[in-house]
Amino acid sequence: MTAIRLTINGTQIADDVPARLSLADYLREPRNLTGTHLGCEHGVCGACTILVDGEPVRSCLTLAVACDGCQVRTIEGFGSDPVMTALREAFHRRHGLQCGFCTPAMLITAHDLIRRGRAASETEIRLGLAGNICRCTGYTNIVAAIAEAAVAAAKGPPDAE
Ligand code: FES
Ligand code: FES
Repeated sequence: MTAIRLTINGTQIADDVPARLSLADYLREPRNLTGTHLGCEHGVCGACTILVDGEPVRSCLTLAVACDGCQVRTIEGFGSDPVMTALREAFHRRHGLQCGFCTPAMLITAHDLIRRGRAASETEIRLGLAGNICRCTGYTNIVAAIAEAAVAAAKGPPDAE
């Protein structure tokens, strides 16, 4: 076991973890943050995408011990964040999900695209989503939802904020 200290969704945590434990497995159990989904478990599908120190990463390819000292943010950690609020509303309005398996990672990736100003066109959004696979092939509505949320975010915080 290896001792680590990290911050997950704003909470400081000290823990002992096996050296080969992935961050995704660590988040899902024992931390019970099951909004981080596991699909391929080898870096292809993007379902496990979360933020480490503000950057999207594949948590299935990231070792928990490598996150010692890091800030980790999962889908459970966005609360009333105005961009995430706009995305949730747009995904709901536009039917941007079917089974929902890809949705947490789609939302985190979309949040990152909007935050970096990389969601200005359908082409830009589709390129930005290239690493996130939706097995329900719901891309048309997902892209429309992200485009709508990007416009809403540019206008300012929604009422919920
Ligand atoms: S589960 Fe991590 S990329 Fe597919
Ligand atoms: S909504 Fe089912 S995998 Fe995307």
